[in-house]
Formats: sequence, C-alpha cells, structure tokens
Amino acid sequence: MRSRVDLSIGAKLIVLSTVVSVAALGLAATMLVGLQYMGSNGDLGSTLAYALLVGVVYAVASIFAFALAIAGQRRISTPAERSIRQHELAEQVLTRARDEAEAANRAKTFFIANMSHELRTPLNAIIGYSGLLQEEAEALGLSQAVGDLEKIENAGKHLLALINDVLDLSKIEAGKMTLSLETFEVRALLNEVLTTVQPMIDVRRNTLAVHGSEEAGEITSDPTRVRQVLLNLLSNAAKFTEAGQVRLDIRRERTGDLEWIVFDLEDTGIGMSEKQVQGLFVEFVQADSSTTRRFGGTGLGLAISRHLCRMMGGDISVRSQLGVGSQFVVRLPVASPAVEEQVA
Ligand SMILES: Nc1ncnc2c1ncn2[C@@H]1O[C@H](COP(=O)(O)OP(=O)(O)O)[C@@H](O)[C@H]1O
Ligand SMILES: [Mg+2]
Repeated sequence: MRSRVDLSIGAKLIVLSTVVSVAALGLAATMLVGLQYMGSNGDLGSTLAYALLVGVVYAVASIFAFALAIAGQRRISTPAERSIRQHELAEQVLTRARDEAEAANRAKTFFIANMSHELRTPLNAIIGYSGLLQEEAEALGLSQAVGDLEKIENAGKHLLALINDVLDLSKIEAGKMTLSLETFEVRALLNEVLTTVQPMIDVRRNTLAVHGSEEAGEITSDPTRVRQVLLNLLSNAAKFTEAGQVRLDIRRERTGDLEWIVFDLEDTGIGMSEKQVQGLFVEFVQADSSTTRRFGGTGLGLAISRHLCRMMGGDISVRSQLGVGSQFVVRLPVASPAVEEQVA
C-alpha cells in the first residue's frame, strides 16, 4: 500500500530528473575533457586544471540531483497529496478494524457452537434421568417426588430449547446452517405440530381452529425447519393470548410461475404496537421488557424463523394491533429455485 503511494506521487519524477541531470552534466564534462586532450600540448598543469574542472562539474551535478530529489520528496507533501495519503491510511485502519471484528465474530460463533454442544450432552442426561425417576417414583407411590421431578424435567427441556436456539442462531450467522430437503405431506407434519402445541393452547384457555390442512398436499422443503417455524409461531400465539382464539389457515397461492404454500396464523391476543412490530425480527428483542418477566423466552424465535424461511426461499410477514391481536403469514415455495438448487 505504502510503496504504491510513494510511486504514484513524485518518486518516478525524482528518479527521472536525477538520471537526466547526471547524464547531461556527465556528458558536458566528458566533452570538455575530450576537447582539452584534442588541443593538448602535454602541459601537466593545464591537464590537472581540466581534471579539477571535471571534478567540480560532477560535484555540481550531484548537488543538483540531490536538490531535485529533495524537491521531489516535498512534492509528496502537497495538501492534495497529503489528503490522499491520510485517506489511504484511514482506509488501512478501517480494513484492520473490520478484519479484527470479523475474527472476533468467528471466534464467538466457534465458542457458542462448541459450548452449546457441551451443554446439551449433560442436559440430555438430566432430562432423561428425571423422566426415569418419575416413573420409579410413580411406581413407589411417591406423589410429592413425582411433582418435583416433573419440574426438573420441564426446566431442563426449557433450557435445552434455549440452547438449541442459540446454536441455531450461531450457525445461521456463520453461514453454516444447511437445509435437508424432502418431499413431505404438509398435513402429517402439521398434525405433529398441533399435538405439541395443544397443551400450550389449553393452558391459557384458548381455542385453536385449523383450516385447509387436508388440501395442503405435498411440498419439497426442510421438514425439520418448517416444523420449527410453525412451532415458534404457534407457541407465541398460545403464549400471548388468554381465553382467546388462535386460527391457522393453510392455502396454496400462485404468483407467475411460482407456487407457494401459505400458513396464515391469527390470534386474538395482546397484540403489538407499530413500534414493537418494527424490532420484531431482531435477535434478542422482545416487545417490551416486561415480556421476559411475564412470559419468559429469549426473543430469538422470530429472528430464527425469518432466517429459516428466507433460506427456504420464502418469508414471514406480520400485522398486529395492540390489544386486538396479531397475524403472522409464512409463505414458502412449494418448489422454489433455491429449494431445487439444494436438492441437486
Ligand atoms: N402472537 C404474538 N402476540 C403478541 N406478541 C408477540 C407475538 N409473537 C411474538 N410477539 C412478541 O415478539 C417477541 C419476540 O418473539 P420471539 O422471537 O418468538 O421471542 P420469545 O418468544 O422468546 O419472546 C415476544 O417476546 C413478544 O413480545
Ligand atoms: Mg417465541
């Protein structure tokens, strides 16, 4: 970078003028000596005088070349050139800062990915053994212990879900999240999801109505990720609605050559203001600080869901009104170019 700056400003000129002036003065001196010898009468004194003259001419040439070099160097420091130089230096500083930030981000991602793995292994043991102990406690009629063990199991599962979210996010950020594509029945996948969320719906005395799953047919996508997105959205709807209705409509839509599967989810819950909706898909953002206290969660679900939908070639949109309810619409291609690329 630095040598490029020096060469572009003045350095070439210094070299050129030095070479030209030394050559010109050298030539003049040689001619003088030659002329002297041609008309020489062998007088040692006058030969020495001419030799001295040649020496002086060379000395003058050197001083002249040196002066030119200094002048050339000063040229580098004209205001315009200084500003270019400052600009280039600032660019270097920025580039270094960006490289350092990227390295730090890579280290963070690596750390999180490894930690998540290390945390999940013992956590799975805790969940597994608390389940086993519950069965044994039931067999022995220890009802008090059964309740406590259930709490351990639930807390373990909650922590595992959080760790999985953090792991997913770090994978997405590192560009390491891959899709595993399959052709599958939407109805079958939806039945699994609904079985999982039904207890959450019941807990807050909500009702869940699903339409269109029979006609949804097959899609080619990543079933694990589609399930994850729907679970996220449905559990949010269940969590933020009390004694209300949650409605899920599934339909197919066509825009030009592309066919889409649309999951349209609406609830009559607490809703969100316009400002709250704006930060909705940002990592770790919850509608307001009281949300964590009241409902738990990390604010990662929607950010991950949107990333996943976009990876599958689709997207999520939202509409909400404070105190009235929310509507989340997931649109995924039935067979998008992105999906076909992954299959190939
Ligand atoms: N259906 C909904 N109704 C009202 N608020 C919602 C709904 N879904 C999401 N939100 C708001 O968006 C925030 C972020 O949601 P999410 O990313 O799933 O994180 P989490 O569920 O862990 O809080 C929630 O904390 C909540 O404030
Ligand atoms: Mg959530």
